Amino acid sequence: MDVLVGKEVDREYPGYSPGLEGIMAGTTAICYLNDDTGELLYRGYSVSDLVNASYEEVAYLLIYGRLPNSKEFADFSSTLVKSRKLPDDVSPIIQQLPTNAHPMDVLRTGVSLLGLSDSTLQDSSKDAKMTRAIQLVAQMPVLLTEFNNHAHGLRSVKPDGSLGHAENFLYMLLGRKPDPKLAKIFNVSMVLYAEHELNASTFSARVTASTLTDIYSAVTSAIGTLKGPLHGGANEGVAKMLMDIDDPSKAEAWVSAALARKERIMGFGHRIHRKTEDPRSVTIKKYAKDLGEYIGETKWYDICFALEKKMSGEKNLYPNLDLYSAVIYMLMGIPIELYTPIFVCSRIAGWCAHIIEQQENNRLIRPRSIYTGARSLKYIPMEKRK
Ligand code: ACO
Repeated sequence: MDVLVGKEVDREYPGYSPGLEGIMAGTTAICYLNDDTGELLYRGYSVSDLVNASYEEVAYLLIYGRLPNSKEFADFSSTLVKSRKLPDDVSPIIQQLPTNAHPMDVLRTGVSLLGLSDSTLQDSSKDAKMTRAIQLVAQMPVLLTEFNNHAHGLRSVKPDGSLGHAENFLYMLLGRKPDPKLAKIFNVSMVLYAEHELNASTFSARVTASTLTDIYSAVTSAIGTLKGPLHGGANEGVAKMLMDIDDPSKAEAWVSAALARKERIMGFGHRIHRKTEDPRSVTIKKYAKDLGEYIGETKWYDICFALEKKMSGEKNLYPNLDLYSAVIYMLMGIPIELYTPIFVCSRIAGWCAHIIEQQENNRLIRPRSIYTGARSLKYIPMEKRK
């Protein structure tokens, strides 16, 4: 046989699963997902309980594998606060990046810079990896906000050591101390974005880590993967869609037209959460409704609600975490291009936990590919080719 096409691939390789759907590609003690019930656990704890914890407590749980006691939590929080300052050789470079760069590209470059400036890079002990993980958790929001201020000619906002991780991040994004209700909801969204088993970006991070390279290289891979609109980039796509629709009464017709053009509706569908709604969406939706009513702007929530009805009837698809997360960020007045970077600054804890876990019990990740090209072509010297 020369070239394998279509059904021949399925016949020759019955175990083949495009997109690795349903394939168990590793083991982990970090996150449990049940696609029948929608149960979602971080290190054994239900995420519906963890949304009441601070982001830093959840980051500790993910990275260390257990909840901290009060002294451990105080020490960890203080280390995060102290680590917020960027290395002296990184900040000036961030200030020189093109102001029209997408902040996701800046974060990808920023993590590379953090790797370059780490003089301990040769130390591959677990302790050194944990230290780097904590520094990354602390520094990603600062990288993002420093660039955002530079790009928009805004005054530099220094981290406030008296504020917790999520509240300080929102303070640096908005340039003013946030209303406590906004800070609480922003913390919830960071907890929900912190981890989600072997999603595409975590898989990228683990593949990269499995070559025993450093944590910065693995996180750089993950950021590049998260950027795409089928993954983390969807929350920015949702905001653009909602602004385009602009009126709940127009949502249904908008979806019909987009589906007729065979377009994907951002914020809907999920590889794992198909039988039940994404449990993170169930949670964030309540906060989006509450925040809309608190602020006095319910339009974005109402459009999403109309979209949900239409997508359920038309495609049998549920919303994912990105739909109502975008609503929350819109209500907070955060610029759209920062939504996926906020996802990065949250998922960083999950990525680091996976990178460390991968390298603790490593085997190079190197699957196979089914060859579908030609096999019996004869090489003809260039001067004799037509
Ligand atoms: N809009 C329209 N149709 C959709 C959507 C959508 N959002 N999602 C899936 N479908 C349709 C597909 O067209 C396909 O239909 P068909 O069988 O008639 O061709 C069917 O549902 C199955 O889709 P797949 O692409 O095979 O599903 P997969 O598991 O590969 O994709 C994905 C999952 C990428 C998330 C998809 O649902 C999607 O594109 N969603 C929009 C982007 C998005 O919101 N991403 C965020 C993911 S969650 C996160 O990152 C936090």
